[in-house]
Parts: sequence; C-alpha cells; structure tokens
Amino acid sequence: MSKLRIAVQKSGRLHDDSMQILKDIGISIDNGKDQLKASAKDFPVEIFYLRNGDIPQYLKDGVVDAAIIGENVLIEKGETITVAEKLGFSSCRVCIAVPKTKKYNGIQDLDGKRIATSYPNTVKDYLESKGVQANLHIINGSVEIAPNIGLADAICDIVSSGSTLFKNNLKEVETILKSEAVLAVSPIISEEKQEILNTIQFRIRSVLKGRQ
Ligand code: PRP
Ligand code: MG
Repeated sequence: MSKLRIAVQKSGRLHDDSMQILKDIGISIDNGKDQLKASAKDFPVEIFYLRNGDIPQYLKDGVVDAAIIGENVLIEKGETITVAEKLGFSSCRVCIAVPKTKKYNGIQDLDGKRIATSYPNTVKDYLESKGVQANLHIINGSVEIAPNIGLADAICDIVSSGSTLFKNNLKEVETILKSEAVLAVSPIISEEKQEILNTIQFRIRSVLKGRQ
C-alpha cells in the first residue's frame, strides 16, 4: 500500500504543534527531527521534515501529498494549493510596521520608501492594490532590525505576540492578512492517498472539536 507523504516544518514556530496534532490523531513517529523522513507506526503515512519556504513547491509538484504549513507561506509563494483544514494554531498576521517615532498618516506615506521583508510577493500585491510603489529589500530573518540599522524605512513581517515589534521600537500600521497553520493538499494527490487523507481529516476534526 502506498503511503501518504506529509510535509511538516523541520524547525521553527510550527514544528512542535504540528507534531502534537499528528500525535493527537494517532500518528506517532519514532525518530526525531535529525532524520529528514520518518514513517508512522500503525498508519500508512510518511513524514518529511522540510524548510517552510520549500513546501508549497513540493506540494505543487506532488513530491509530498499534504503538508502542515502556515497559510501565509502558501499565499506568499502564490501556488494554487487547496487548504483542506484550518488547524487552529500558530495564528499570526502579516503586517507592515514603522518606527514608533514616525508619524504615519496612511499607506501613501510608504510611496518611494524602502521596505525590508521576507514576504516580497505579499507586500508587493498589497502595495499595488493601494497604488503605492516602494523599494523592497528581501531579508530572510531578523527583519525588524532593518529600520534600526538604516536599511529600511518600514518592514513587513509576521506578527504573533507583537513582542518583536515592541523590542525593536516598531509599531504596526497595516495588517495585510491573517494566517494560521493549515493542512494543505497537493493538486495532484492520487485517489488512493486521498482516502488516507480523508481519514486524517476526519480525525483532525474530532481532535480540534475536543480542544475547543
Ligand atoms: C518571527 C517573525 C517575527 C516574529 C513574530 O521571527 O519573523 O520576527 O517571529 O513573533 P512575535 O510577534 O511573537 O514577536 P522568528 O523569531 O521566527 O525569527 P526569524 O525572523 O529570524 O526567522
Ligand atoms: Mg523574525
């Protein structure tokens, strides 16, 4: 019998809760995350530990059949991938923030300004929809430092508790989108694997109900 391949974040904010929900639906995995691939006991599932940003492409190509991933990453990567279930953890929003001391009258203030971000497509689409043009600097992490070191006038990144913004003397001025962890499905999943996924979705729903 073929196994359903599920991608989860190798490390980062989604990892622990992803493993927990798999455990809660009865998919237990032996080896730790030093292995890049693991088989579940008693269930036709293989887990692949991957980098967040790579997961949308793997889904699109059918290298993996499903994934637990932040919806914000799917949106950023622009792949047409179905969200099968919202998973109710790792809520965050993708926001634009500016230094606390800066006056902010509206999005037009960002016209011609430099914005540091790990979400270039998301912020580009948003600015375009508002008729604003800015210069984007793509950074992969620690984005909030950029205004403090003179690299940018504003940033666009995910905000969860808000503590990173606070510590870096930034204030949220635009909320582009809200996101949470989701179960995403490859557009080319086989019928046989879809059956396994249906069982998983059924179990996820009851676990989420129980958590309410
Ligand atoms: C993430 C994100 C924000 C922060 C938001 O960074 O890029 O910086 O968390 O969370 P908060 O609102 O609860 O502070 P992360 O710590 O994952 O590090 P990185 O940006 O260097 O990848
Ligand atoms: Mg960060």
